[in-house]
Amino acid sequence: MCHGSVFRLDDTRLLDEHVTHGAWTWEMRSLQEVSYQVRLVSGVLDPANDLLAGAGAWPGEKAARRVVVADSAVNDVYGEAIHRYFGQHSAEHRLVVLDVCEERKRLELVTQVIDELDRFGIDRRREPLVAIGGGVLMDVAAFAASIYRRSTPYVRVPTTLVGLVDAGVGAKTGVNYGRHKNRVGTYFPSTVTLCDRGFLATLDRRHVVNGMAEILKIALIKDRRLFELLEVNGSALIASRFQDDDGVRERVAVEVLHRAIEAMLEELAPNLWEQKLERVVDYGHSFSPTLEMHALPELLHGEAVAVDMALTTVLSVQRGLVSSAEATRVFGVMRALGLPLWHPLCESNLLREALHDTIRHRNGQQRVPLARGIGAATFVNDLCDTELARAAEVLAREACRG
Ligand SMILES: NC(=O)c1ccc[n+]([C@@H]2O[C@H](COP(=O)([O-])OP(=O)(O)OC[C@H]3O[C@@H](n4cnc5c(N)ncnc54)[C@H](O)[C@@H]3O)[C@@H](O)[C@H]2O)c1
Repeated sequence: MCHGSVFRLDDTRLLDEHVTHGAWTWEMRSLQEVSYQVRLVSGVLDPANDLLAGAGAWPGEKAARRVVVADSAVNDVYGEAIHRYFGQHSAEHRLVVLDVCEERKRLELVTQVIDELDRFGIDRRREPLVAIGGGVLMDVAAFAASIYRRSTPYVRVPTTLVGLVDAGVGAKTGVNYGRHKNRVGTYFPSTVTLCDRGFLATLDRRHVVNGMAEILKIALIKDRRLFELLEVNGSALIASRFQDDDGVRERVAVEVLHRAIEAMLEELAPNLWEQKLERVVDYGHSFSPTLEMHALPELLHGEAVAVDMALTTVLSVQRGLVSSAEATRVFGVMRALGLPLWHPLCESNLLREALHDTIRHRNGQQRVPLARGIGAATFVNDLCDTELARAAEVLAREACRG
């Protein structure tokens, strides 16, 4: 739904002045309401399942033509199933396979997708692009969709844990630029995201662990029950890759995903365009973007987030926001999940650079979220170099204890 209006700000008394100086000001206001769906489903590539064929289609229409962009690792495993699926639904489709990874998450990949959209001759409104893959693939494809003909609808099918609980849930698209993470991008949510935990069956263990970092993030700042679920079941969920289908374990797998997705959506809904720069979902993302880019390709996104969360847990302890006993539990869960607590680059120079970049990103203030106990957060604006250096030293000693 769109609402719009135009206001002329100039007072008519200024007419004479206007005639003299030749200046008028109009203020244009236009609001666009956004609504999109995130669905936790199963059997997305089962030809008997209509969900993907109907996703993003106009009412009463089926997937007549689709450009499907898939990650090459996903294509290796699911390429045939994707062709079979769209073939079964009589959709003329082009499967575009992108060789993606964090180092290649750059504008060149975006133009590659745009070339394919142009070659296929996609209909601007009725033929949503379908992105099937992890966070990198979805960020790239979504960015291309957002700028192709100024906006082309798209559907996301996340195939990694980060994709299911984070990258597939919000509205952000983008790629890295220079040495900066996600420096260029847009806000453009998919019409529908179909989250199917079945894809995690083929994901390697390290990437499952990587996704656990984003679930732990939301647990630590918002959902104590989710933290307790991870504390008790985290390792088993990683071992089974969320594929449990017996009663109790299946319920836990679904509850963890459900809580993580819903908590994320609750935080995003009132602030989707990030007008408010104090965002608890930025927990673990104050120092990690710089750390991740400096450590490439050594640290995965979630691993860098984990180091950031461990560091800020120490900061919280130093400020009396988290007790030592709570910190011990947090570090215990991180170790049990197999997440790193520390990295050699996590030292005072890099932390200073990272905080400087974060301040620029957050409009001149630190706005660093810190955990308050387990399941809540607060923001600080007065971190200093000495405090950061001390926290990094404490963390290095804590990591050695592991
Ligand atoms: N837009 C957002 O809001 C948002 C949120 C969080 C993270 N991100 C971005 O997401 C990216 C990280 O995403 P990621 O962790 O999904 O990594 P990724 O996209 O690199 O995928 C991880 C690896 O798994 C492979 N893969 C994907 N699905 C598979 C499957 N089902 N089976 C086997 N292999 C599979 C991929 O080829 C890749 O090698 C980062 O660039 C980060 O900035 C974006």
